[in-house]
Amino acid sequence: MVQEKLIDLLKEMSLEEKVDQMLQMSGMFYEDEGVLTGPVNTAGFTEEEIRQAGSVLGSVGAEKLMTIQREYMEKQPHHIPLIFMADIINGFRTVFPIPLAQGCTFHPALVEEGAAAAARESAAAGLHLTFSPMADLVRDARWGRVMESTGEDAWLNGCLVRAMVEGYQGREGLREKGRIAACVKHFAAYGAPTAGRDYNTVELSERTLRDDYLPAYQAAVDAGVAVVMTSFNTLDRIPSSGSRRLMREILRDEMGFGGVVISDWGAIEEMCRHGVAKDNREAARLAVEAGVDIDMMTNCYCKNLRGLVEEGIVSESLIDEAVLRILKLKNDLGLFENPYKDADASEEKALALCQEHRQTARKMAVETFVLLKNDGILPLKKEQEKIALIGPYVSNKEIYGAWSMFGSPDTTVSIADGLRNKGYEKILSAQGCGLSEGFGQTAEDSEKLLREAVELAKSADKVVLALGEHRLHSGEAASRADITLPADQMELFRKVCEVNQKVAVVLFSGRPLDIREISEKAAAVLAVWMPGTEGGNAIADVLFGDANPSGKLSMSFPYSVGQVPVFYGQFRTGRPYTEGVEEKYVSRYLDIPNKPLFPFGYGLSYTTFAVGPVRLSAQRMCRTDRLCAAVTVKNTGAVSGQEVVQMYIEDVHGSVVRPVRELRGFSKIELAPGEEKEVCFEIAETMLRFHDIHMNYVSEDGEFRVYIGNSSETANGASFVLAD
Ligand code: BGC
Repeated sequence: MVQEKLIDLLKEMSLEEKVDQMLQMSGMFYEDEGVLTGPVNTAGFTEEEIRQAGSVLGSVGAEKLMTIQREYMEKQPHHIPLIFMADIINGFRTVFPIPLAQGCTFHPALVEEGAAAAARESAAAGLHLTFSPMADLVRDARWGRVMESTGEDAWLNGCLVRAMVEGYQGREGLREKGRIAACVKHFAAYGAPTAGRDYNTVELSERTLRDDYLPAYQAAVDAGVAVVMTSFNTLDRIPSSGSRRLMREILRDEMGFGGVVISDWGAIEEMCRHGVAKDNREAARLAVEAGVDIDMMTNCYCKNLRGLVEEGIVSESLIDEAVLRILKLKNDLGLFENPYKDADASEEKALALCQEHRQTARKMAVETFVLLKNDGILPLKKEQEKIALIGPYVSNKEIYGAWSMFGSPDTTVSIADGLRNKGYEKILSAQGCGLSEGFGQTAEDSEKLLREAVELAKSADKVVLALGEHRLHSGEAASRADITLPADQMELFRKVCEVNQKVAVVLFSGRPLDIREISEKAAAVLAVWMPGTEGGNAIADVLFGDANPSGKLSMSFPYSVGQVPVFYGQFRTGRPYTEGVEEKYVSRYLDIPNKPLFPFGYGLSYTTFAVGPVRLSAQRMCRTDRLCAAVTVKNTGAVSGQEVVQMYIEDVHGSVVRPVRELRGFSKIELAPGEEKEVCFEIAETMLRFHDIHMNYVSEDGEFRVYIGNSSETANGASFVLAD
């Protein structure tokens, strides 16, 4: 349909019909054969309101979805189709590693491939839109939702968010087969809740918001993301769903977003609990004035917008602009011509967990693993060594992360399965303890589990100890103040280390954990996050050296929770602390180091890489120039491997305090033993910009240092001067 027709359509619609388009209902209301049989009284909706809502949240499968769509359209006076949206966060039926892990790949093309596979599977199930990517910058490991972000760095997040949007939406328009629309969230700064407690207040300076938090959302907007979701938090004491400034002035006017804005679940009504709206009616007014087009799962819009317009409090033009955006989204997806888009039950079945998607999941999982420590015990030698597999994650198949509603343990590969698939006939394994404290066992059972594990560890050449936090201990509403492993697991770890020196810990988590003791005592530590469907195969690939780990941390592992938020791009203080120098009145802790245990960008390999000195194409750069910063990277070890070469820039002096350094480029290269490659990064003036003392987004003349290496702590640098 052409745009003018949409305007004609809008003119034909009654006010009530328009407001219907602005409500999103959960798919839970549709049970059995697409007939509306759900709990209609929940949240105070009438059956009529539910029946007429313009969009549905959730996946019900192609067949049922087509029935719901057909029945809806038969009754819809203007034949406006429903749009179906769901949270396809890290894969659909084939589950990929969690986004935080995907961040560790530093591999946008692979991240895009994963998103495209997820889009194909979910499009065949009839879905039209995913509530992904989450572009929230995260720096506090206590916050459970760090697992949904690609990490602590604005630049890396921007690159990966763009890759995800392009993977879901493609580049040919939303009508393309197998593509779905993307929704970037949670606008804005949801990733910075005070004290890491979910839904808590966000306090950020305007400059930090603009320099660090907005760029990744901007990357999504620039990539053409169809929808933006509001956040639950307040920013500058204003809930985002009612913030005109954020939603209209910043998102639409400054950032150039022209698509649909949807509230987060229940967020419009929550403005009453925030205390900025006295009732749902006022909340509806605030949200519609802020430019929020769809109310997700509250009755604020459907019960109040009509009255607000009829009484002249809200202009009907606000409703019209919102509805036009919604109709345009439906039209962009081609739903007026084909309301079922790619829904196809047989294709849904064929694509789900197909070989190709599983392969991508395995390849991606391998690249997400970060080898944090290796005293030479990995890779394992399959034929010669007696390996004991110990720990609550050995046979656990719930390794797909908190948001994988469509993944299943039945289709997931555990570590034990992965070893079996490598031809290990007889696996020596012991659970050792439960995953969470207590785990429903008696004290006697627990002792027995521990005893068996220790006996097994004694008799083995090496131990693979699979530990970690429960998959539901990260994700939404899963903040933790103590980010260590449960006591039972730590006891198991200590006891096993007492009887065997060759312990390789395989660590599952949805966040960086405090693993100080583990990193000291274990001979090797491999962080595998929540690796998804193919997790066990990918872990076996890496443990046995069939694949070489290449992941780099997308979020620092704190030394202790007392450091958080801890991230590499901190600001300079007036009293900097120099490691190892004893001074009293400097910015430091008395009891722990300033540095994280493992910094952003860090990760080992089974080989070693030497990064040569930084060579700049000039020592001086004017604003219209581009500088080339080059290094030679050599594989100095005995096996092939991939290395993520990272470029950081330090702005030595500024009109406001600048971060100690900022990532401004990365390149993942593969090198055979002895091979060397030249890696060249282009530096453009735009990469040096920030919000200056007058809040202008500019670069300032002066000295810049360029660091190139394989972690955020590299000292390998050279300087240039920016001057016109
Ligand atoms: C989450 C969103 C999610 C929405 C819909 C909310 O609770 O914050 O990220 O997209 O639910 O499921």
